[in-house]
Amino acid sequence: MEFDIKDLGLAEAGKLRIEWAAQSMPVLALIEERFRKERPLDDVRLTACLHVTTETGQLMKTLKAGGAQVALCASNPLSTQDDVAASLVEHDQIPVFAIKGEDNDTYYSHIQSALDIRPHLTMDDGADVVSVLHSERTELLDEVVGGTEETTTGVIRLRSMAEEGVLRYPIIAVNDAETKYLFDNRYGTGQSTIDGIIRATNRLVAGSVFVVVGYGWCGRGVSMRAQGMGARVIVAEVSPVRALEAAMDGFSVLPMEQAAPLGNFFCTVTGNIHVIRKEHFLAMKDGAMVSNSGHFNVELDLDSLADVSVSRRMIREFVEEFEMPGGRRIYVLGEGRLINLAAAEGHPSSVMDMSFANQALSAEYIIKEGKTLENKVFSVPESIDKDIARLKLKSLGVEIDSLTAEQVKYLSSWEMGT
Ligand code: ADE
Repeated sequence: MEFDIKDLGLAEAGKLRIEWAAQSMPVLALIEERFRKERPLDDVRLTACLHVTTETGQLMKTLKAGGAQVALCASNPLSTQDDVAASLVEHDQIPVFAIKGEDNDTYYSHIQSALDIRPHLTMDDGADVVSVLHSERTELLDEVVGGTEETTTGVIRLRSMAEEGVLRYPIIAVNDAETKYLFDNRYGTGQSTIDGIIRATNRLVAGSVFVVVGYGWCGRGVSMRAQGMGARVIVAEVSPVRALEAAMDGFSVLPMEQAAPLGNFFCTVTGNIHVIRKEHFLAMKDGAMVSNSGHFNVELDLDSLADVSVSRRMIREFVEEFEMPGGRRIYVLGEGRLINLAAAEGHPSSVMDMSFANQALSAEYIIKEGKTLENKVFSVPESIDKDIARLKLKSLGVEIDSLTAEQVKYLSSWEMGT
């Protein structure tokens, strides 16, 4: 079996960490149990390009239990947990191509290696596999039945491919399931981003000014958690509706230009390019700490920061100091890559339980239905979404009401009013 990881000697440590994650993934465990019996993915070759974390490890084991032959590569050069990669190779015989800190060329060569299994299914986090398949590995496209996509950024890329008519197989947008984005994007990103910033800097959040750029589900989560730790939160946003929502959620809302001189912490979660750029860096105060928790490392214009700064050095792991003319210092965390995965461990397992339950069930669905689907981006079927919510509630010991017959009738009738 071919693989490319940092060190097989890390396998035992990785196995324990995967076991720890699995304890908070009861929904995925139920799916694994059923998959083991029913083998819905028998003979399916699956290339997964995901953050190589303990939770992803548990997902790979679930897919394998369902009969799939999986190959795994990283969806970000800095997010790989090398011990997890080692454990999957050593204990589960899953070929992994991922090393934390790999350079761009290695990152893409790892995607190529994971594609060498000639997948029937692809599982993406950011659409890099789809993009490589449609540009450099088109000879493999005929065998692909379908794919899934984990993240907002990837879904946006794939929808634009579908609109241009160039998407060659159907995709299930796992990101858009309610049991995904309402929890993973909000509570997952909220907690893990603050965790990454704190692990990188060990600075006090209480009493600070924390600027969140973007008020989508991730931005809502980061703002909520920064406020919960005692920061005064400023939101910068381009959508009038979201800005209004941020204001009514109790946050200050300012254009970046006005927020730049005020912040101690900055975090971008927009999915867009250069939302913090030269003029903002030039306005920041001494000691400002700038990070990104959006999928790609494009949100901070670090080239312009390098241009205007007089010197730079790594001052501690994940913290690069840029000295500005006049002596002010700006700190860039985790090279501007996803700070929650670069400096911390990504979203906690309990929330990935739902995201990855969606992945596993969408993989099963697309193998059943893929040949009948057009080459478009589809939602996760509502029945899957609702089932996952029900199972998660059950695992949390939370009971809920159901509608009475009278209420069902009322909701379906238009005659009954006052
Ligand atoms: N994305 C964010 N957090 C993650 C995690 N823990 N595992 C995989 N993908 C993630």
